[in-house]
Amino acid sequence: TKHIGVFTSGGDSPGMNAALYGTVKVAEQHGIRVSGILKGYEGMIDGHFIPLESQQLQKTVHRGGTVLKTARSERFMAVEGRQLAFKSLQNNDIDAVVAIGGDGTFKGLLAFSEICEIPFIGIPGTIDNDISGTDYTLGFDSAVNTAIENIDKIKDTAESHNRVFIVEVMGRDSGYIAIHSGLGVGADAILIPESGEDFLQLLKKVKDYKSEDGFIVVVSEGDELGAGLVASKIKEINSKVDLRITKLGHVQRGGSPSSLDRMLGIRLGSAAVRALLLGRRNAMVGVLDNQLSLTPFEQVVKQHQVNDELQELLKIFGK
Ligand code: F6P
Repeated sequence: TKHIGVFTSGGDSPGMNAALYGTVKVAEQHGIRVSGILKGYEGMIDGHFIPLESQQLQKTVHRGGTVLKTARSERFMAVEGRQLAFKSLQNNDIDAVVAIGGDGTFKGLLAFSEICEIPFIGIPGTIDNDISGTDYTLGFDSAVNTAIENIDKIKDTAESHNRVFIVEVMGRDSGYIAIHSGLGVGADAILIPESGEDFLQLLKKVKDYKSEDGFIVVVSEGDELGAGLVASKIKEINSKVDLRITKLGHVQRGGSPSSLDRMLGIRLGSAAVRALLLGRRNAMVGVLDNQLSLTPFEQVVKQHQVNDELQELLKIFGK
């Protein structure tokens, strides 16, 4: 390996800059040049490459977002787009690629590997924590911390007014952010995509709610009802409640990475380069049981479902 191309793709997540730093630092140690590909697959197709140095990335470890910019690329989904991207990599003498992104990014790489023989290593970067082959994805911990910090504030005002708050958190079709932030703030109810019965329990609880305290419901954006319908059902069952809806939205994507995400970024960035040096290709680096792991792209799947242990906790703490 002489020249690595690295890019970030899909939704940004805190810790991506740390992963870039980890990648470039270890590459430099081995005399490997690194080019940053701007705006994910878009920049790869358009040939937007910039030289990267660890000295400059060292200054970005504490910053959220991604200094390489990111995008969700429609063009790369078509084989013509992937052919152009392959040409660009060849024109720039790239002989290995490190990709930081979510499940869409890895699906793209799997399709790309059919026409492009350059080795790829992926780093799971998404706040949703919805990828198998790693205990945590890069940015999840920061997003949960942001959610908790904000719901704590909502709790203060909810308690002062004896109000019910429905707080919607991100996570796409996975309930991990909802369950971690909901349990972390001591929410009265947590609704995730897989919680059927929990909603009935919530209705029971809210029926008896006497407006003598705050009441926090954390709803995952992937929950089939969504914040709006949950609110109207609550109103139906107890018309006296004073209720507000807050959607936390993209605040969860930004902000300084937590210490865990900075560390995870540096570990995974370093591991990606080491995997390439060992001749590995088309696999994702991750951390399982706090040990570095490598999972072939074919086995990296989107994991919507929160694990059984957490679902069990929901049943106990949602009561
Ligand atoms: O995948 C990360 C994520 O933030 C999801 O939690 C959310 O559903 C989605 O991206 C939002 O996408 P966009 O930034 O394109 O609105």
